[in-house]
Amino acid sequence: MYNKIDLDRIDINLAPPLEEPDRQYYFIAKCRELIREFGQKNGRFPTACIQTFGCQMNSRDSEKLLGVLKEIGYQESDSEEADFVIYNTCTVRENANLKVYGRLGFLQTRKKKNPNMLIALCGCMMQEQQVVEKIQKSYRFVDIIFGTHNIYKLAELLYQRMQSGKMVVDLWKDTANIVEDLPNQRKYPFKSGVNIMFGCNNFCSYCIVPYVRGRERSRNPQDIVREITGLVADGVSEIMLLGQNVNSYGKNLDKPVSFAELLKEIEQIEGLKRIRFMTPHPKDFSNELIEVMKSSHKICKQVHLPVQSGSSRILKLMNRHYTKEQYLALVERIRTAMPEVSFTTDIIVGFPGETEEDFEETLDVVKKVRFDSAFTFIYSKRTGTLAAEMEDQVPEEIVGKRFDRLLHEIQKISAELTKEREGKIETALVEEINVQSQEFVTGRLSNNLLVHFKGDASLIGKLVSVKLKESKGFYYIGELV
Ligand code: 5AD
Ligand code: SF4
Repeated sequence: MYNKIDLDRIDINLAPPLEEPDRQYYFIAKCRELIREFGQKNGRFPTACIQTFGCQMNSRDSEKLLGVLKEIGYQESDSEEADFVIYNTCTVRENANLKVYGRLGFLQTRKKKNPNMLIALCGCMMQEQQVVEKIQKSYRFVDIIFGTHNIYKLAELLYQRMQSGKMVVDLWKDTANIVEDLPNQRKYPFKSGVNIMFGCNNFCSYCIVPYVRGRERSRNPQDIVREITGLVADGVSEIMLLGQNVNSYGKNLDKPVSFAELLKEIEQIEGLKRIRFMTPHPKDFSNELIEVMKSSHKICKQVHLPVQSGSSRILKLMNRHYTKEQYLALVERIRTAMPEVSFTTDIIVGFPGETEEDFEETLDVVKKVRFDSAFTFIYSKRTGTLAAEMEDQVPEEIVGKRFDRLLHEIQKISAELTKEREGKIETALVEEINVQSQEFVTGRLSNNLLVHFKGDASLIGKLVSVKLKESKGFYYIGELV
């Protein structure tokens, strides 16, 4: 856990240390000097805005970036008119890339008005060679480009940019390193993501993640427990353990540890109230994990279990290593152990070669499992993946129609499930004052749905019992009991 370092004790006139994280502390101190000079000259501290695209991994990475910037002396801003703008990018679907290019145009106009402005791009999209070449050629006003493996180097790269005045590009193909103990600035005081592993070895045929996030690396269990203990001491009640495939956690450690064993250790942390995790892969969801979930008082009885498709033929082409029947059997196994469990999922529509029959298999899984909710995606061709080379890409109009049918089915089932729970008393973690009405607070239930009920700010961060009085489709109006 990062314990606030005393930057004043670092001698910035010496050569930079070679070891991490000391090297980054040194560059944070160096940058801080330059930012102080800026402050004296301009009568204000510079502002920084981080825009995060994509998944919870990226959100957690952005908290780390912000932690470093705050130590340096930047003031956080949510406006892209800031002095330093960072885009933490995603490339899982093409749309995400297009969004970034579109917004870079806007940033260029901003930079013309504020020539001291700095722009950095990092994250998954930057791990793609053709993207970086395009930016270096057509977006010369970008100041810093870095990737997913070296986000911990922000201070060093920023210092390099401020000294050289030139575009800094630092990209690594892969890494075996995990740098611990860097600052981070949480978005919420009472809940936090916690990385347990990085990278992915699965190579699902549609997915770019293994190429941009590299091979699987697990953090040591002691480091994870130490971080969570520190978070709890700092007011965190709920954690979300993050990894691209949490079930393969610990396999590559010197002393292998299973994900279930890690969960058992985390359960012991006093003061921690709720544990969530994402994402488990259906192919290796162990009985040991089911048992640990069942006997836990802290692990939320909700499983995000991406199915991707209901057709065994398509699942094979996707390289998912399970069939429709095996997926349904797993759901059954989990449900038998924990009848109250709720499931959510990810589904891709329009994978190459998907026929009407294949799609109907997906609808069938949706009807059988009855997911609480689902993230549905239109298949997006990612250059470099196996699926991009496949023939029979499905025409857009057909995919669009299937997508609408799927969404309709999912929404219908979600509404029915929320209705069924009306009248029940459940535990909610209070997250904030309701945006629409100051007399209400918003809490999150174990199954991730929101409930709004009368209450005040003193409840924020607490777990309370709430009667779910009225279902509104995707959320509830409740009452404190
Ligand atoms: N096209 C559409 N959806 C994708 N996903 C990953 N790659 C693609 C792609 N090429 C979805 C999967 C995954 C989620 C995070 O994003 O459903 O589970
Ligand atoms: Fe992508 Fe599959 Fe790895 Fe998930 S498990 S990140 S979908 S390759």
